[in-house]
Amino acid sequence: MVVPYTHEPFTDFTVEENRKEMEAALKLVSGELGKEYPLIIGGERVMTDDKFVSENPANHKEVVGYVSKATREHAEKAHRIADETFETWKKWKVESRANVLFRASAMIRRRKHEFSAYLVYEAGKPWKEADADTAEAIDFLEYYARQILRLKDGMPINSRDIEDNQFRYIPLGVGVTISPWNFAFAIMAGTVVGPMVAGNTILLKPASTTPVIAYKFMEVLEEAGMPAGVVNYIPGSGSEIGDFLVDHPRTRFVNFTGSRDVGVRIYERAAKVQEGQKWLKRVIAEMGGKDTIVVDKDSDLELAAEAIVMSAFGFSGQKCSACSRAVIHEDVYDEVLERSVEKTKELTVGATFNDNSNFMGPVNDKAAFDKVMKYVEIGKEEGRLMTGGEGDASEGYFVQPTIVADVDPKARLMQEEIFGPVVAFTKAKDFDHALEIANNTDYGLTGAVISNNRARLEQAREDFHVGNLYFNRGCTAAIVGYQPFGGFNMSGTDSKAGGPDYLLHFLQPKTVTDQF
Ligand code: NAD
Ligand code: ALA
Repeated sequence: MVVPYTHEPFTDFTVEENRKEMEAALKLVSGELGKEYPLIIGGERVMTDDKFVSENPANHKEVVGYVSKATREHAEKAHRIADETFETWKKWKVESRANVLFRASAMIRRRKHEFSAYLVYEAGKPWKEADADTAEAIDFLEYYARQILRLKDGMPINSRDIEDNQFRYIPLGVGVTISPWNFAFAIMAGTVVGPMVAGNTILLKPASTTPVIAYKFMEVLEEAGMPAGVVNYIPGSGSEIGDFLVDHPRTRFVNFTGSRDVGVRIYERAAKVQEGQKWLKRVIAEMGGKDTIVVDKDSDLELAAEAIVMSAFGFSGQKCSACSRAVIHEDVYDEVLERSVEKTKELTVGATFNDNSNFMGPVNDKAAFDKVMKYVEIGKEEGRLMTGGEGDASEGYFVQPTIVADVDPKARLMQEEIFGPVVAFTKAKDFDHALEIANNTDYGLTGAVISNNRARLEQAREDFHVGNLYFNRGCTAAIVGYQPFGGFNMSGTDSKAGGPDYLLHFLQPKTVTDQF
């Protein structure tokens, strides 16, 4: 009997015991830095000469790990093994597949701070954010294991008295999971185990800047009883193996999370039927965001400022859900802006592997640093720089939280995903105008409305076109099973990670009629 799902609680690091445990985990992981990691193909370790160097973004001289880089030959071999393994894995009892996830989840829970410590080192996460990332990984395992148990007997349909009709779900085949660095544990793990527990086999290509945490997860899956070849770990560059895996005629589906440009490329390429290919590939793409918080004139202005600042600058704005546009009713614009600037000035930025007092750590890497600083310069031209605007990449990639005011709704700062700690403020004439601005992007991932007026909230419920809409709170921090997550329009293919219908993307329904 499986107990009902509840999400993994977050750790309170103000409690002395928790803080000490996290410090011990950081010490443990610091002793593991600089190791070499192989590919894992059919359970076999393959060390390559050419390696990714995973750096600590808060101290780029420090190497977290040297990770083997798969070539096309490795990818082809992994594909063949995944194809063969599918024939046995798909026949495993659903309960047994689910038990691999339950066991993996229990193992991660017991070593929770160790995984969070890897995220602090490899992704530059503050402790709180690392802890939330690990908790979300546990949630995905627990939630999807229960979801497949719910789906295992299919759905009830009708039968006449001369027949028995059954409607069941069967897996698809070999899938490619391509994951981002920003939720290096949770999204990587969730986009692997969802399709895996549904009976598919997986080729995992994690992000190049965070491959070590993915390797640690592979070790857990193996120890939890996953047979060799069910998930194959093949970090590699997009150009060397990305297109190859997507184009491969034996690829049945691609489960991608990342930027719009790469998502669109994958979607287009996967649509082409290759020689020898017997199906139309499925693409589940979760892509970027340009997320807005709308503040109504009748609202709690302190809550509004807090929601904007926390959603814009948590994990340095590197969440697809991050608030990068604040659209404020003109009657309260100056006050919300002023309060937001005050709160932002209180935030501290710095390394988090040796200090839990900094609210923000670094941005991901040199490319991210350069991109964010470029947008800061654009912001100075498009609006009024209120606070921040400085960056320092000498040791780690640190950018001050930045607010730019009075930005035109059509300006680049209001339209393009920056993926860093920069938020643009704009003024709306009234609530209709605010919603019009909020919807005026190609994306449609998250949004929030701060208002004490129920009628306006109901208007937003209908008219604010985003996949995840929040009232009177920030627009980040969706929880698996509570706020199924995924966006509209150029934010993705309308799937909902951590939702009750997620696993259906990796299953096909089969109807069997037995006539008597
Ligand atoms: P990215 O698109 O640069 O990379 C994502 C993955 O795609 C990486 O593993 C990368 O190696 C791989 N890749 C690159 N080129 C490829 C190719 N040609 N073929 C196949 N794979 C290729 O994104 P990122 O910088 O890692 O992540 C940030 C982006 O992800 C942001 O746009 C963010 O909004 C988005 N994101 C979306 C969600 C969501 O749920 N919608 C969640 C997290 C992140
Ligand atoms: N689940 C993450 C959030 O909602 C992406 O912020």
